[in-house]
Amino acid sequence: MIGRLNHVAIVVPDLDAAARLYRDTLGATVSAPLALPEHGVTTVFVELPNTKIELLHPLGEASPIAKFLAANPSGGMHHVCYEVDDIHAARDRLKAAGARVLGDGEPKTGAHGKPVLFLHPKDFCGTLVELEQV
Ligand code: CO
Repeated sequence: MIGRLNHVAIVVPDLDAAARLYRDTLGATVSAPLALPEHGVTTVFVELPNTKIELLHPLGEASPIAKFLAANPSGGMHHVCYEVDDIHAARDRLKAAGARVLGDGEPKTGAHGKPVLFLHPKDFCGTLVELEQV
């Protein structure tokens, strides 16, 4: 059911420092910072040959990643995103298997303008999983 790894998201305490690390030390192609107020994050996209890394930093008081950064002050891996062809079919199959979908269970428009869902980390080996319909 799941397809390609779309991205791995890493929460970072200093977005400029993290962008420099990926660009200058690791030699990757790195985007300019992009503020996504509706998601409560500022993000830098790191383009790799086979996937992307999303560097995330909280934006605004109600950022959904503020608590994560408080608990992980050096930053840390936040979620992995797998591509699916049909997000409603994927959701229904996972719910039937007993997996918990976060929020109200309806897909939302994600950071790339495509429908996304998040799955409870306790049901997926301790990892927050995002599904994105591509
Ligand atoms: Co994501």
